[in-house]
Amino acid sequence: MTAINPFTEQLIAWQKVAGRHDLPWQKTRDAYRIWLSEIMLQQTQVSTVIPYYARFLESFPDVRALAAAPIEAVIEHWAGLGYYARARNLHRCAQQVVAVHGGKFPDSAEELAALPGIGRSTAAAIAAFAFGRRAAILDGNVKRVLCRQFGIDGFPGSTAIDRRLWALAESLLPDDNIEVYTQGLMDLGATLCTRSRPRCADCPVAGACVARREGRQAELPTAKPRTRVPERQATFVLFTDGQRLLFERRPPSGLWGGLLVPPEGEPAEVAARLGLEIGEIQPLPPLKHAFTHFRLTLVPMLCRVTAQSGVAERGCEWVEIVRAVGAGVPTPIRKLIRQVASAGG
Ligand code: ADE
Repeated sequence: MTAINPFTEQLIAWQKVAGRHDLPWQKTRDAYRIWLSEIMLQQTQVSTVIPYYARFLESFPDVRALAAAPIEAVIEHWAGLGYYARARNLHRCAQQVVAVHGGKFPDSAEELAALPGIGRSTAAAIAAFAFGRRAAILDGNVKRVLCRQFGIDGFPGSTAIDRRLWALAESLLPDDNIEVYTQGLMDLGATLCTRSRPRCADCPVAGACVARREGRQAELPTAKPRTRVPERQATFVLFTDGQRLLFERRPPSGLWGGLLVPPEGEPAEVAARLGLEIGEIQPLPPLKHAFTHFRLTLVPMLCRVTAQSGVAERGCEWVEIVRAVGAGVPTPIRKLIRQVASAGG
């Protein structure tokens, strides 16, 4: 028996008196219910999850019911929670639990982490809450708590800091009360040690907190280093006949794959390619859009079409301007169309 860390001890004592005890997934040891809550809570906050959780369990009361359900029904119950890969993995996971584990979730963090959609931290949470297993969680909230408490500098997403945090999280685990401790870590991160304006006055571990002592709560955890994202520029030609705009279906892969987008390129070249004769070209204000990996400046050119031949054969279609805003077009393109609509076509 190792001496319990003061952080661990204080957190457990605090959770018992001041932590959350009435969340719907705390009243059970059913691994299915706990797993479902942990997946829903991965990127969604508690207040949003609660009604979804209840509806989901009503329709899919156990892992066999979920595994047997059509994926469409699962997605339907997920609609509004976002990150739909979670719903697909949830369904695959249920099917795997039935097919590989006879309908019972495995009781170790290692085996749980081998299932679809269950990462190391989620596996540990399920193992602790459902099976009382001693396993360390380390989600975004817990990283923030540990970085502040122990004054860990450096971006937590880097490999070096990530390793350090996992080792620290493991070293803090209690021998007993793993459920209370795990819930305490979550409660502290969600209710007191929040990203902005942490409530240090109420914190059970404020006494030893490095960030608090040094007044560095706002600097810890260290933000992701700003990497320069590439800047690109693309010209889009908004061909119009006065009522309608011309769209082209993008190739299936690449940016906006498969979506309808106005043709890209210089007006004269695009017009020649599509067999269009054009009149006046009117440049519209450029528009910036940030993608994950680059920033795009869209340069729109409004072009009046005076004669055309066979655009349909060239993979193009005319769409009424008023309908185009509502059509399945990418967000920045919708903004361009709005400009055209307000410029009067
Ligand atoms: N966030 C992730 N897991 C949670 C849980 N079990 N309770 C409250 N918030 C959570």
